[in-house]
Amino acid sequence: PPTKRVCVLGSGNWGSTAARIIGNNVLRLPDFDDRVNIWVYEELVNGRKLTEIINTQHENVKYLPGHRLPDNVTAVADAREAVRGATHIVVVIPHQFVQDLLATIRGTVDPGARAISLIKGIAISSEGMTTMTQIIHRALGIPVASLSGANIADEIAEEKYCETTIGCRDAADAAAWRSLFDTSYFQVNCVADVVGVEFCGALKNVVAVGAGFIDGLGLGNNTKAAIIRIGFLEMRRLAMHLSGAQIQDATFMESCGMADVITTCYGGRNRRLAEEFVKTGKRMSQLEQELLNGQKLQGYLTAGEVYSYIESRGIAEHFPLFTNIYQICYQGRHPRSIFDGLNVDFSRD
Ligand code: NAD
Ligand code: 13P
Repeated sequence: PPTKRVCVLGSGNWGSTAARIIGNNVLRLPDFDDRVNIWVYEELVNGRKLTEIINTQHENVKYLPGHRLPDNVTAVADAREAVRGATHIVVVIPHQFVQDLLATIRGTVDPGARAISLIKGIAISSEGMTTMTQIIHRALGIPVASLSGANIADEIAEEKYCETTIGCRDAADAAAWRSLFDTSYFQVNCVADVVGVEFCGALKNVVAVGAGFIDGLGLGNNTKAAIIRIGFLEMRRLAMHLSGAQIQDATFMESCGMADVITTCYGGRNRRLAEEFVKTGKRMSQLEQELLNGQKLQGYLTAGEVYSYIESRGIAEHFPLFTNIYQICYQGRHPRSIFDGLNVDFSRD
C-alpha cells in the first residue's frame, strides 16, 4: 500500500498548474497515495466557494481557467486539514503570505515529512535576508528543497516543453521530488544548491520589473538585453554576497538562472505591469488589483526587500540597477533614470 502522500499548499496560477502535474504523476507512482490535497485560500467566485467549484468542475476557474485538474486533486479550505498526513508538502503561495500560513500549520505537519518551495521571493528580518526554504525549515523543522525555473504557469498548463531546476541536498529526496514533477513537457534537473536556485527565482523578478520599464518607455530589444545582462550580474553579485559565496556559479546557467530571467523579462506578469506602470503612472499595487484578477506580483515587493537590505548594509552603490528600480517604483523617480550609474565593473565578481 502507498506510504506517501502529497499536499500542495497554494492554488494560484502556478499552484494549480503544479497540482495538475503532481495529480497526474502520482497515479503511476505506487508509493504515493492517489489523493492529492490542494489547499485553497477560500473565496467566492460568482457566489460559489472556490473549493466547491474545484471539487465539482475539476477546474480552478479563477486562477487557471481552461485546464482540467485531475479528479484525484481535492480542494481543501482548511490548511491544517489539507496538510495532515502529508509526507511531501509543496509550498506555492505568494511570498508575502508564507509566514501566516506556516503559523497556521505548525504543529500539524508530520515530523518525518519533507517540503519543497516553489515560491519566488525573499524575506527581510532582523538577521538580514532569509530565503523561503530557510523560513519554512525554521517553522516546520523538516528538510526543505526548492524548485524554480523558466516556468510561466499558463504555458506549462498548455504542456509546452520547458525545463525547471530542483535544489535538494539529499539524493533520495531529490529523486522523489523529481518523480512527482518530471513529465515529457516539464523536464526537471536536480542540483544540490538549494539556496542558489531560490535566490535566482526571487531576484529575477526585480530584473523583470526593469525590463517592463524599458517596454513602457518604448525602447528596443538591445536596451532590454542590456538591462537583462546587468540585472543578471547584479543578481549573481547579491546572491553570492548573501550566501557567503556558497552558491555554485553553474546554478546561474540552469533553468532557474539565465532561462528564467529571459522568460520573465519577455512574458511575465511583473514585466507586463511594470510596462503599465510607465504608461499609466499608477502604483504597482493599484495595477495589481485592477489587472490581475487576484493574482499577485512578487517583483516590486522584492525590489523593496532587496533595497532595504543593500541600503542598510551600505552596499547600494554596488547595485545601481536594483537601486534605480526601487526608486522608480517607490520614490517617484522617472523611469528613464533606470540607466543612471549602470557602468559597473563586474569583471572581478
Ligand atoms: P497567483 O499570483 O496566481 O495567485 C495568488 C494566490 O494567492 C491565489 O491562490 C490567492 O487565493 C492567494 N491568496 C490571496 N490572498 C492570500 C492570503 N492572504 N493568504 C494566502 N493566500 C492568499 O499565485 P501563483 O502564480 O501560484 O504564485 C505563487 C508563487 O509561485 C509566487 O511566489 C510566484 O512568484 C511563483 N511562481 C509563479 C509562476 C507563474 O507563472 N504564475 C511561475 C513560477 C513561480
Ligand atoms: P511572473 O510572476 O512575472 O509572471 O513570473 C512568472 C515566473 O516566475 C516565470 O518563471
